[in-house]
Amino acid sequence: MRQKYTWKQRRRLSDPIEEHAAFGDTESKVALSGHPLHAMMVAFPISLAVCTLGADAMYWFSAEEFWPRVALWTSGLAFLIGIVAGATGTVELLIAPGIRIRSASWTHFILAVMLLSVLGLNWGFRLPDHVAAVLPFGLLISALAAVMTGITGWHGGKLVFDYRIGTQAGPEG
Ligand code: HEM
Repeated sequence: MRQKYTWKQRRRLSDPIEEHAAFGDTESKVALSGHPLHAMMVAFPISLAVCTLGADAMYWFSAEEFWPRVALWTSGLAFLIGIVAGATGTVELLIAPGIRIRSASWTHFILAVMLLSVLGLNWGFRLPDHVAAVLPFGLLISALAAVMTGITGWHGGKLVFDYRIGTQAGPEG
């Protein structure tokens, strides 16, 4: 015969923290002496994406052909270093049980993959003719990339500072 549970017992049975012993196992595994590689690397795509927008804006104001060349390099490096940073984050997401189980980690993953697609588009769009590509579409893609970088970066910070993802447990666990 099937055992009957009271509402209170059923609520306790579906408590994810009790069900998953490794819920608190959020410590970074892809790290150098305890410092997460992902956190160290994301500064580069973030700053390079903002620099690309800056270089496009400078070309709009000055018509100097130096700026589209800057934007070609910054957009390419933002994409390539972003891919490597994303790979370190993805390994972290898949191997750390306390990171993998939190829906916020997957939200960050989805935001980041959308961002990386836009960073790739921003670079690829400039490859055939990096000067002609800037106005208006290069500039518009750069503006979109900068906004998406802000959202993804803010959300990454939320993972660390609100959910303590990637951090070590204190002495009391
Ligand atoms: C592509 C897949 C990605 C995954 C799976 C991922 C996953 C993670 C994880 C698990 C953390 C928590 C810290 C850690 O364990 O290292 C984190 C933090 C963070 N992520 Fe990502 N991430 C990805 C891509 C990106 C990209 C492209 C950016 C660039 C905007 C980014 C920005 C951040 C930031 C700013 C933090 C907070 C770092 C800190 O303040 O310590 N992430 N990410």
